[in-house]
Amino acid sequence: MPSLNDIRTTFLDYFRRQGHEVVDSSPLVPRNDPTLMFANSGMVQFKNLFTGVEHRDYTRATTSQKCVRAGGKHNDLDNVGYTMRHHTFFEMLGNFSFGDYFKEEAIPFAWDVVTKELGIDASRLLVTVYHTDDEAADLWKKVAGLPDDRIIRIATNDNFWMMGPTGPCGPSSEIFFDHGDHIWGGPPGSPEEDGDRFVEIWNLVFMQFEQFEDGSRVELPKKSIDTGMGIERVAALLQGTNDNYATDLMRALIEASANQTSTDPDGPGKTHHRVIADHLRSTSFLIADGVMPSNEGRGYVLRRIMRRAMRHAHLLGAKDPLMYRLVPELVRQMGGAYPELQQAQALITETLESEETRFRQTLERGLRLLDDELAGLPEGADLPGEAAFKLYDTYGFPLDLTQDALREKDRSVDTDGFDAAMAEQKAKARAAWSGTGETQDSTIWFDIAEEHGATDFLGYDTEKAEGQIVAIVRDGAVVESASAGETVQIVLNQSPFYAESGGQVGDTGTLAVEGGQAKVTDTRKIAGVFVHMAEITEGVVPVGVGAELVVDHDRRSAIRANHSATHLLHEALRERLGDHVAQRGSLNAPDRLRFDFSHNHALSPEDLASVEAEVNAFIRQNTAVETRIMTPDDARAIGAQALFGEKYGDEVRVVSMGEADTGKGADGKTYSIELCGGTHVRQTGDIGLFVALGDSASSAGVRRVEALTGEAARQHLARQAQRLAEVAGAVKTPPADVVERVRTLMDERKTLQNEIAQLRRELAMAGGAGAANGAGNMREVNGIPFVAQVLQGVTAKDLRGLIDDHKSRIGSGAVLLIADTGGKAAVAAGVTGDVTEKVSAVDLVKAAVVELGGIGGGGRPDMAQGGGKDVENADAAIKAAEAVIGG
Ligand code: ALA
Repeated sequence: MPSLNDIRTTFLDYFRRQGHEVVDSSPLVPRNDPTLMFANSGMVQFKNLFTGVEHRDYTRATTSQKCVRAGGKHNDLDNVGYTMRHHTFFEMLGNFSFGDYFKEEAIPFAWDVVTKELGIDASRLLVTVYHTDDEAADLWKKVAGLPDDRIIRIATNDNFWMMGPTGPCGPSSEIFFDHGDHIWGGPPGSPEEDGDRFVEIWNLVFMQFEQFEDGSRVELPKKSIDTGMGIERVAALLQGTNDNYATDLMRALIEASANQTSTDPDGPGKTHHRVIADHLRSTSFLIADGVMPSNEGRGYVLRRIMRRAMRHAHLLGAKDPLMYRLVPELVRQMGGAYPELQQAQALITETLESEETRFRQTLERGLRLLDDELAGLPEGADLPGEAAFKLYDTYGFPLDLTQDALREKDRSVDTDGFDAAMAEQKAKARAAWSGTGETQDSTIWFDIAEEHGATDFLGYDTEKAEGQIVAIVRDGAVVESASAGETVQIVLNQSPFYAESGGQVGDTGTLAVEGGQAKVTDTRKIAGVFVHMAEITEGVVPVGVGAELVVDHDRRSAIRANHSATHLLHEALRERLGDHVAQRGSLNAPDRLRFDFSHNHALSPEDLASVEAEVNAFIRQNTAVETRIMTPDDARAIGAQALFGEKYGDEVRVVSMGEADTGKGADGKTYSIELCGGTHVRQTGDIGLFVALGDSASSAGVRRVEALTGEAARQHLARQAQRLAEVAGAVKTPPADVVERVRTLMDERKTLQNEIAQLRRELAMAGGAGAANGAGNMREVNGIPFVAQVLQGVTAKDLRGLIDDHKSRIGSGAVLLIADTGGKAAVAAGVTGDVTEKVSAVDLVKAAVVELGGIGGGGRPDMAQGGGKDVENADAAIKAAEAVIGG
């Protein structure tokens, strides 16, 4: 009996042998179709190949595609658990031809797979074709030898497959399996077709048209093939059942649920186990593909599925959170085919545990309220909308969870009343908000947020995605379109662009629509809406169309490296300086990073070098950077760093990196754990290199380290090396000896300076350049020996020493020296101790300064200094001093 995993392998291997490229499933969140909530069939990722817009180096492909049908147009959520074939998550096997083969090959391939590869009894099979498709009918007859009564012509849309209101489409042909007359039901097209006896197992779509918005339909340039086989149904029939939940894979999950709750998998809790098994798959795969529980959009669909499962776990009597305990079994079953499950196992586990822990706190009270409400109602009456709204608002019961609970009691909800209560609450919230005094400017963003919801961020795992343009704003007003040359703000329902937050700058890149292009110069977040600052570079960009968004990869990579390095730097600083180090601010730009932290002293060069070495050691360790979601309390409990004073929501993103024996976290081995919403490298090695530029004071008690990573760091070091080489060249020595050489040069310089000063003094004593001999300048005034001189090539500083020299030479008397310092004058006077009673050096200087056009001057009676601007009056200054001595 083949297992579900065997069937997947058989299918993909068969088509590989037929020249098909085995392509990975696309993520559940469509990157190329913003109008779809989740990938819901295999062809979604290939839609542009069918229309010829995109080409790849293969024209045949085969996939096993993850699909979710919950929320949006295809919504099977309500039925899951109560039927044998409804799922929120399923896998679709498919083969595709992009203008390569058509019906003539697709039909034989399908027949081969079903009857030979999978060994299904041909006598149990029948097919349908679109009523006008004689070609397909003939092929089935020829290839499969099916009699006419087992080739059923269907005139309805059941056999004309369309991707959506627009896009590729064509007639289809479906293969059905007859489970036998012990089960009620009739062949397709018969009045009993809804029974369980005849089950569709494979849909072959002969893609040959493209449908446009105006209803017109044109032939595709090349006819193509799109097929979809539900693996769960095929597994069921090959395993001798018509119940998808009895297949090996689903059974393993159901048994895990039964074991963990010590209940009978087939007892009264049977439905609960089925719900849990199905929802475990959809929630885990959604989390692995980047969806997080929230109150909006995809995140809310995820939350609804989770909570529905959690109520069923509660009904099983589970005393503790259950879902997360089933993850290991799911990974055992499906982690081989879908490695993303293994990679995200920790994230899935923690998200489920935290959501269930919190939901359980209100679940019981909510259920009690529901019972009380019902008890007060007349027999069979609908639950009033306000009661359902209260359950939603106070106890976190999504509407469909309440409906699910009522279903067991054969009751329903007054949904109009629920909608009215919801609308009323929104109006109140809005009124409360308008009272907060926010500027008029931002109301436009709140309007947009309210109308279209928050932007879904896809950029944690992709830099390229399509988004639907929901609003364009020009000069503060909403407009319908923007044309080349205009600068506008564009809002999309989803985007891979990171909007500036937490120190990480906004992304830049390009936006393209059919007939228009724009450059995105920045991305910001206002009221949950991502505002793409855009310059239209070509054509027209209108509201309401899908746009291809591409983030500037090199810039984002550099930002990622800087952001991850900031986390390592933070931890390295704590290790080196102490636990008082806490983040006070940061900048993660493409060209550099900046980290502000609480610390009172400048870092020593050794501190900085040690921190830099530690960060680089963790870069070289090259371990995976992990992201998890948990409650803020749980995050703090494992030692996560959080921004002081920051307000966090119910759930926080926690980024960990590095392994250290003395680390923290659940295993005590994680180096850095931080609450962070930013984008990070996959492995620490992707940072490449870290260079700390230095430390400075940012504000009181806050230091700032600036640093570079990756290519910017390399360029910085290269520049430094270049400078060193230039210095080495200039001092004519190898770079290795530069320091010694420069020291020697500096010493030599000092010695030379001293020698020059000495020579100047000697020269001055000898009469100075152009001045008369020192001794010849001595005269006697009023009985006091007086030396006066004007000196060239001497600085103000030299004068003191020269005065002393003269004083000791004459033994007794007064000295006045004027230095010509390039047009200006410096003056100094000295009086020997025996004469200071009669004349003061200060008076001599003061008198000279007046003549030299200066002010003041001062010192002590034996030594004084001053200056002026008119050196040409030096002689008059000497005379004035002489007059002072003369009394
Ligand atoms: N795209 C086709 C389907 O979903 C095969 O059924």
